[in-house]
Amino acid sequence: MRQPALVLGIETSCDETGVALVRATADASELLVDAVASSVDEHARFGGIIPEIASRAHLESFVPTLQRALAEADVTLAEVDAIAVTAGPGLVGPLTVGAAAAKALAVALDKPLYGVNHVIGHAVVDELVHGLFPERCMALVVSGGHTSLLLVEDAVTGVSELGHTLDDAAGEAFDKVGRLLGLPYPGGPHIDRLAREGDPTAIRFPRGLTAAKDQAKHAADFSFSGLKTAVARWVESRQDAGEELPLADVAASFAASVADVLTAKTIAACRQHGVTTLVVGGGFSANSQLRDLLAQRCAEAGIELRIPPIRYCTDNGAMIAALGAAVVRRGLPASPLDLAVDSSMPLTQVLV
Ligand code: KG4
Ligand code: ZN
Repeated sequence: MRQPALVLGIETSCDETGVALVRATADASELLVDAVASSVDEHARFGGIIPEIASRAHLESFVPTLQRALAEADVTLAEVDAIAVTAGPGLVGPLTVGAAAAKALAVALDKPLYGVNHVIGHAVVDELVHGLFPERCMALVVSGGHTSLLLVEDAVTGVSELGHTLDDAAGEAFDKVGRLLGLPYPGGPHIDRLAREGDPTAIRFPRGLTAAKDQAKHAADFSFSGLKTAVARWVESRQDAGEELPLADVAASFAASVADVLTAKTIAACRQHGVTTLVVGGGFSANSQLRDLLAQRCAEAGIELRIPPIRYCTDNGAMIAALGAAVVRRGLPASPLDLAVDSSMPLTQVLV
């Protein structure tokens, strides 16, 4: 493919319709535009994403979002060289809408189609901000659906998963604790805000999978459901005693536990594998308790920390265009036009 190549990225795995354009050269990926339409408000009253509502919203939003992206970048569809789309993991209905749109564009424009992995996109989006990945790095992807620690020897062909959450994702745990504290959905950003006013040492909540017996088998795995239960018990006991809830302290102590475990295990994995660059992505990397602790502990450990600005961390088309650019740069073959979306696409499969 000619370079620079103009890569169109399409993301519809959850409740964000994302369309972005990235210009890929041999040694850089440049974001031209990142247009996002969200249906999050339509799900708020249900306290969670309703796949049918998200699918319909993608159907309605896709063409206007594509048109907005093209107009903002002052680019025509004829100039697009490749189309990248999220093939999974995610919700089947929403994924199918994006994949159908991408296939239609690939056929109409006679351009290659690349079905790529959403979770890896959350890490590779950082290439738009901090430059192409070094030869080896560690990636921590933390979102509402995923918490995974990846050893990245190549952003497309050399990703291995060292560990993941055995139950809730970090963002999911925040959303569930947010619900039990009576905060609006999604609770993550509300807990973050509350936690900044509280004392993180007020309550000693458990640190999942950090006991000596877990270190052998689950050194790089995470578990947040025990923590969530501990918070629920603590809140119930206060309520039963008729005492007022110190909301900010509960939020701060809970957030401190999540940040502590994520950070400690990630830095231990970097040390074990001799990796000196850590990339963090996913919607939960917006969390300020995690950002602060990572910054502090990475500096102490001599690890270069790469976290993109918050607008790149949540779901968007830029992450998919960035991963598409990485695929194009490596000259890999296009995906079949009849590619099937995969709601549980494994993290080791970066490209369909
Ligand atoms: O990556 P994302 O936009 O969607 C998924 O692929 O899941 O992540 C959304 C998740 C939600 O659980 C949300 O509550 C959480 O990230 N989140 C936060 C913060 N901002 C977003 N959690 C804690 N603190 C935040 N500041
Ligand atoms: Zn995501």
